[in-house]
Amino acid sequence: MNKQITVSDSLYGQGISRRSFLKFCAITASTLAITGVGVKAFTQALAVARRPSVIWLSFQACTGCSESLLRSGNPLTDRLTVENLILNFVSLDFHGTLQVAAGAQAEAARRTAMEENFGQYVLIADGGIPTGDSEWSSAEGGQSALVLLRETIEGAALVINVGTCASFGGLPASAPNPTKAMGVGDLMAAGLVPSRALLNISGCPPVPEVITGSIAYFLVNGALPPLDSLQRPMLYFGKTVHDCCPRLPHFEAGRFAASFDDDGARQGHCLLLLGCKGPDTFNACTTNKWNQGTSSPTQAGHGCLGCSEPAFWDHPGGFYGLVNEFELGDGTACATPAHPQLPVV
Ligand code: SF4
Ligand code: F3S
Repeated sequence: MNKQITVSDSLYGQGISRRSFLKFCAITASTLAITGVGVKAFTQALAVARRPSVIWLSFQACTGCSESLLRSGNPLTDRLTVENLILNFVSLDFHGTLQVAAGAQAEAARRTAMEENFGQYVLIADGGIPTGDSEWSSAEGGQSALVLLRETIEGAALVINVGTCASFGGLPASAPNPTKAMGVGDLMAAGLVPSRALLNISGCPPVPEVITGSIAYFLVNGALPPLDSLQRPMLYFGKTVHDCCPRLPHFEAGRFAASFDDDGARQGHCLLLLGCKGPDTFNACTTNKWNQGTSSPTQAGHGCLGCSEPAFWDHPGGFYGLVNEFELGDGTACATPAHPQLPVV
């Protein structure tokens, strides 16, 4: 762990103003349900927090989680983007996609970070991990993904799974799961990798502010936030998409769009009949929204796919749930079941 540099040292060293930092802290504190004098205490604690060493491993993934994070802000108008906050919160000592180093040099950086910070570093994972006779479907530096994960998890104080693939297997694990892919938590439960404190930030991709807020909570409190049964922070996954959806008044009044281009859809009517999975999906996307608070899927007219829930790739909602003619590799149909929560009006 870098014992010298604090979060505020790093931010101010990058030319980020104190004003921007205070603004970020106020917004993050509100998402963590911290109000009043608690905001000042949160800000002070975050400013003096030491930046933990982070090793970020990517497995069977589309890189969408990293892409989402890196493109979450507008660098022309705001230097304090989510991604530069994250990169200043932590000492990112290894990230296979972002780092300049490659090959043996990159591998050496990972080993050095592990040795110098053994027992203290944070391991961030994205992507599903192939297992069994498909273990070598993903490999790096002469090691299978599973061996790489097992070795790196050994000295980690905390594992953060970013995205639905690392959390629950995601797309690689969808039927027929040709590489026998698993999420990190399932690997721990099966005894295939050592068990460590685990935080799942699911979503395809996950909401960037949820990653920032969860890391900020850990830095300030030295502990994980309260978690739900799927190891997700309750502060961000405690409510469904439906609970906070701008179309909820129409749902309650029994006004449903019958197609994506009818008058009802244009007037903001509920998308449940079009396969929206908002009532069954826990995520912060309708409260935090995307692209710096611009909009969310249901606000924009696209029903929720359920991207933050396990096995959503096998049973996606929204438009893709309506495309139920095709069959999955195991012969089962990919369909969204009729929803039991239709209101009686
Ligand atoms: Fe709920 Fe989806 Fe309707 Fe929104 S569009 S109110 S999330 S069912
Ligand atoms: Fe994902 Fe549904 Fe939100 S698809 S981004 S959880 S609206």
